[in-house]
Amino acid sequence: MRIGVLTGGGDVPGLNAAIRAVARRAFEYGYEVMGIRNGWAGLLEGDGEPLSLGSVSGILHVGGTILGTSRTNPLKREGGIEKCLENARDFHVDALVAIGGDDTLTVAAALFKAGMSIVGIPKTMDNDVSDTDYCIGFNTAVTMVAEACDRLHTTANSHHRVVVVEVMGRDAGWVATIGGLAGGADFILIPECSCSVEDISNHIKRRYEEQGKGFSIIVVSEGADIYGVEAKEDLGETDEFGHVRLDRRNMGKALAKAIERRTGFESRSVVLGYLQRGGSPTVFDRVLATRLGVAAVDLIKESRFGYMVAIQGNRIVPVPLEKVAGRTKKVDLALYALAKVFY
Ligand code: F6P
Repeated sequence: MRIGVLTGGGDVPGLNAAIRAVARRAFEYGYEVMGIRNGWAGLLEGDGEPLSLGSVSGILHVGGTILGTSRTNPLKREGGIEKCLENARDFHVDALVAIGGDDTLTVAAALFKAGMSIVGIPKTMDNDVSDTDYCIGFNTAVTMVAEACDRLHTTANSHHRVVVVEVMGRDAGWVATIGGLAGGADFILIPECSCSVEDISNHIKRRYEEQGKGFSIIVVSEGADIYGVEAKEDLGETDEFGHVRLDRRNMGKALAKAIERRTGFESRSVVLGYLQRGGSPTVFDRVLATRLGVAAVDLIKESRFGYMVAIQGNRIVPVPLEKVAGRTKKVDLALYALAKVFY
């Protein structure tokens, strides 16, 4: 048996832990492992390398992905699916493990339909893959957001400023909600809930008048829509999955400006950007990636294909890829409401 493994979409810490887990479990079963370079691009181009015990050694704690990644979409290339099937055959790959977010898993679902033996592993710092409580990379990202909020609290307090923290999160506000909750944010803005700059400004003024708080930390998702804030609309080209670059909206900067105008409080903004996706994975992400990687190979051993391995509660379970493909897990609004208790 030879297993192929690839990582697609934006990188996150924990990908290497998952690659290592796939490879180590496979070696334990006497299987060979082929690393496909740069996500689906590698399968389209026939670019890969056999993995060995040595090549997956010492990578558990290392961020990024030793295989490289891309946002290449075979569904957008003429004959892309056939090319992927052909190259998998040329690689003598009997089964493939695709590690990625909704985009990667949607391609995996299409390849499964086309006849490939495939298992998916959910990864995205956005944590918005359906039917799994957590995705690899999310915990590291929110740990970083919370730490940033801690640091910003002391400087915002000293200068009596409002600091707007812009975090990633394209269609769902998980990073803002959980990062903000853990970081003691005074207001959180997410794509799932509309809000106006007036509400935010009134809240900041109230904090000052009623609680004597002359500073505030506001966490905003890059994809949030806020009434009264003019984010940039012309965002340029989309990638092969149809996504625009949301960092180009400059939401954090626009919001800070609007708040300053309305409240008179000096306001600044910080974009956490790729810092949320870089560096070493947390313990949670290392263990999650390890459990999911091992579970993916176990499914392959049982000849069970067309599934994503997911964590639900504290159990690792298989979920059909077709159930996951094309869906977004939105923020649990009860959790979002919980943060308001501390505003
Ligand atoms: O898909 C995850 C994500 O981190 C989004 O939150 C963000 O909008 C996007 O990737 C940024 O992607 P890129 O690496 O293409 O700039």
